[in-house]
Amino acid sequence: MTETRIKHIACIGAGYVGGPTMAVIAQKCPDIKVTVVDISRERIAEWNDSNLDNLPIYEPGLKEVVAEARGRNLFFCTDVEGAIREADMIFISVNTPTKTYGVGKGMAADLKYVELCARQIANVATGNKIVVEKSTLPVRTAQSIRTILDAESNGLQFQVLSNPEFLAEGTAVSDLLNPDRVLIGGSEEEGGQAAVRALVEIYARWVDRSKILTTNIWSSELSKLTANAFLAQRVSSINAISALCEKSGADVDEIARAIGMDSRIGPKFLKASVGFGGSCFQKDILNLVYIARSYGLTEVADYWEQVISMNDYQKRRFAENIVNRLFNTVSGKKIAIMGWAFKKDTNDTRESAAIYVADYLLNEQAELWVYDPKVKAERVYADLDYLNTRGEDENRKLVKVVRDPYEAMQGAHAVAVLTEWDEFKAYDWQRVYDDMKKPAFLFDGRNILDRNKVKALGFEFEAIGYRS
Ligand SMILES: NC(=O)c1ccc[n+]([C@@H]2O[C@H](COP(=O)([O-])OP(=O)(O)OC[C@H]3O[C@@H](n4cnc5c(N)ncnc54)[C@H](O)[C@@H]3O)[C@@H](O)[C@H]2O)c1
Repeated sequence: MTETRIKHIACIGAGYVGGPTMAVIAQKCPDIKVTVVDISRERIAEWNDSNLDNLPIYEPGLKEVVAEARGRNLFFCTDVEGAIREADMIFISVNTPTKTYGVGKGMAADLKYVELCARQIANVATGNKIVVEKSTLPVRTAQSIRTILDAESNGLQFQVLSNPEFLAEGTAVSDLLNPDRVLIGGSEEEGGQAAVRALVEIYARWVDRSKILTTNIWSSELSKLTANAFLAQRVSSINAISALCEKSGADVDEIARAIGMDSRIGPKFLKASVGFGGSCFQKDILNLVYIARSYGLTEVADYWEQVISMNDYQKRRFAENIVNRLFNTVSGKKIAIMGWAFKKDTNDTRESAAIYVADYLLNEQAELWVYDPKVKAERVYADLDYLNTRGEDENRKLVKVVRDPYEAMQGAHAVAVLTEWDEFKAYDWQRVYDDMKKPAFLFDGRNILDRNKVKALGFEFEAIGYRS
């Protein structure tokens, strides 16, 4: 049995997954050269910036890992072909957004970037390669990648593995260092199994072997979609109950504690909120729904689709409530949007609930002042422009992005907390109250503020799943 020892890894895609994942592999395997490539020159320049505060991705602990490995055995560059040629193992870590055109528009994953990678690998490779799907992909994508590679292989041997990434943004580095599990799927032939072993040996440098699961390739691909669907489902489930709490006088946080102590349910992912965001949950569920429908499994598709409907309902409900409480009009009123990132400890804003709440309020002609500790003003405007609800000029006229939280809230009719940043809890809420228009409305979309305290200060306070 010949064992392949990996000496050089390439990763195509230097995004939220490719960057941190490869940084940790490079840190833990100093004898392996890891080259991360991307077509975006700007992103690569940021990864190479000598000031580590300018890395394109903010994740706690990331700059320390990059500082240790970059220039030693971790490299970032735009030479995709060179990296492919040199590598024994190539991770595909490019984006797989929801399709915005053609068949499956709005539902299916757009695999054009993945297919381009497969063709490029096939075209430039001069030796055998192990190709690893790191991107989240529909079940059976490995078959398509394999077909493309084989069609252009010129006699070279390619193995395709599935190794989905389970990191969560905001805790990416600790998730990578201490994963609950690493999942590797490969074909059952000997070549496939040898490739699986080669990848297992890399992770085994720092992950206990009992946590490295090997499965057939379709199970691995489908596990990732299933994991995200289950996680999002828990959020939608508790959010559904939050609406019932607001009507009935029950308190959703108390319910979460009560049910979470049941060891069959467990306490995690039971925090009611304005709704989940992020680049993955919605896209992956839509993809799951699309796949189920394409197999004719209508009930399965409808079941999972409800998770998304409930999330949309929650975001809408939150925004509607702001307008209702502000005497049914927010036109011309200053509202502070605290937090734009989809969750704390990340600068990622993709599908953030804040975008949709802001859009709703802008349709009602509110004047928004946005503060987020990690999100740049250009990003806020780009997110709103992308929706195409109104012109770019109008977005800039109605929305101000500021670097000082107190400036955002000063003179506001209402403050809406949309990201659970820890610093929000530590604000001088007395000062905020004193500086606001009265009645001073405070809407906590993340249930992070001390209710009794802020209510005692005089705020008209609303949280999720709790009747004021
Ligand atoms: N973000 C997460 O938390 C997370 C977690 C687990 C899995 N995933 C999955 O990982 C994949 C990547 O997600 P991400 O958040 O890192 O995306 P991202 O958009 O941050 O990064 C993808 C990068 O790939 C680059 N790229 C696209 N096509 C390319 C090509 N042909 N050659 C070179 N570079 C190319 C883009 O320029 C971009 O920088 C997706 O499938 C996603 O579903 C994401």
